[in-house]
Amino acid sequence: MPRYSVFNITRYFVKLYCFAKHTQDGLNECPLLFFFVKIKTLYLGGNQMSFDFETLIPREGTASVKWDGREGYFGSADPLPMWVADMDFAVPEAVSRAVMARAAHPVFGYTQATDSLYESLMDWMRKRHGFEVERDWIILSPGVVPSLHAAVIAFAQPGAGVIVQPPVYFPFFSAVTETDRKLILNPLRLENGRYRMDLEHLEQCAAQGAHLLLLCTPHNPVGRVWSKQELHAVLDIARRHDLVILSDEIHHDLLFPGASHTPLQVLAGEGGEIVTAVAPSKTFNIPGLGLSALIVPNPKHRMALRKAFELLHLGASNPFSLVAFEAAYREGEEWLEALLVYLTQTRDFVAQYLASQLPQIKLIQPEGTYLLWLDCRELGMNDIELKKFFIHQAKVGMNPGPVFGDGGSGFMRMNIGTSRLVVAEALERIRGALEGTK
Ligand SMILES: Cc1ncc(COP(=O)(O)O)c(C=O)c1O
Repeated sequence: MPRYSVFNITRYFVKLYCFAKHTQDGLNECPLLFFFVKIKTLYLGGNQMSFDFETLIPREGTASVKWDGREGYFGSADPLPMWVADMDFAVPEAVSRAVMARAAHPVFGYTQATDSLYESLMDWMRKRHGFEVERDWIILSPGVVPSLHAAVIAFAQPGAGVIVQPPVYFPFFSAVTETDRKLILNPLRLENGRYRMDLEHLEQCAAQGAHLLLLCTPHNPVGRVWSKQELHAVLDIARRHDLVILSDEIHHDLLFPGASHTPLQVLAGEGGEIVTAVAPSKTFNIPGLGLSALIVPNPKHRMALRKAFELLHLGASNPFSLVAFEAAYREGEEWLEALLVYLTQTRDFVAQYLASQLPQIKLIQPEGTYLLWLDCRELGMNDIELKKFFIHQAKVGMNPGPVFGDGGSGFMRMNIGTSRLVVAEALERIRGALEGTK
C-alpha cells in the first residue's frame, strides 16, 4: 500500500484525534475526520455500504466488561480492548427495534418463550445449517456456559471423567473442576501451522471410562472448523465408548470463506447421543442479553438436563432476550452476511500486516470465529514477559494463551470484532513497542 494512500492518511488522523482520547467521540465531533473515514471505507471496497462496522461506537461507561473491565483485568485502562468475546458493532437494526418496542411496555415480569421464538430457531437451523430440529428437542438456557455446567452435572457423576481438548475456551475446564468431576485432557496438535485433533489419544481418553466429551466446534481459540471426516471419527469413538457429547456450536455462523460447518447431530443422525448448544449471541452480538438453546433429540438426555437446570435454579429468559433472539434469527441474516465480509477483510488485513511488518508473530489461519490465535513464541519471551509486554509496552489487551490450558503457552488471543481502525492501531502499537525493545 502506498505510503501516502488515503488509508494511511486516514489512519494518522484517527491516531492523532480518536485514539489519543481513547474514544470515538472524535469521529462524531469532527466532520472532516468522519469524511476521511467514509472515503477509506469506499477505498477498501465498501462492502459495508448499508451496515457500518467501521465507525467505532463508544462503549466506555456502558458497564462493558471488555472496555470498562480493563482496569480490573489488565491493571490498566490503557490497552486497546481485544479480549472478551463480544464485538464493538451495533446489532442488526431489527434487534434494537424489537428491544425498544418491548421496553416501551412498562412491566418487566417473568417471561416464557413463545412458539414463534422456537420456530425462529428451527427455521434458522434448517436454512443455515441443514439441521431439521424438532420443537420438543429444544431446551432454552441463559447461556452456553451454564449449559456446559448442566451437561457435566447431567451426564457425569462426581468423580467421573470428562474430556476436554485444550487449548480451549476456559469455562470448559471450570465446568468440570468446579463440579468435582475429573478432567481428562486430549490436547490438540499443532502441525505445520494447523491444529488437528489427536484421535488416537482421544480413543485412549474415552477408554479410561470418561462419560462426557465437551467439544468446541468451531473451536475457540484455535479457529478450526472441524471437517466432516474429523467429526465422523469423533462420533465413532463416542459410539464405541458410550460417550455423551456436548457439542458447543456457538460460533457456527461465524465462518470464513471456504469453511463449512456441519452440526455434529446432522452427522450422527438418528440415535446420536449429541447435545448441541447454539445461540444467536455471538452471531448477532447480543451475549449480554443472555439466551441460548440446547438441541437434545434424546428424551432421557432432555430429562437429565432439565433436572440439572432445576437444581441450578436457572431461569432462561427475560423480556429483552426473548425479543432480541427472535428478531435476530428472523431479520438478521443480511447483517450477518455483511459482517462476515467485514471480518474476512479484517482477518486478511491482519494476516498481511503480520507477514509484512511483524513476521515474528504468526497468525494461525482461522477458518471461523472472530478470535485470532497468535503464535508469539518467536518473540522469545516467557508468558509473564509476554503478558507484560502486550499490556504495558504495546498497550494492547488480549487474552494470554495459558488461560486456554495446555498448548496455550507463547500464544495470545486477539478479538477482531471491532472497527478495522482499532485493529490497525493495535498492530501499529505492537510493531512500535517491539521496535522500542530492540
Ligand atoms: C466456545 C464458547 N462457548 C460459550 C461461550 C459463552 O457462551 P454464553 O455467553 O452463552 O455463556 C463462548 C464465549 O466466548 C465461547 O467462545
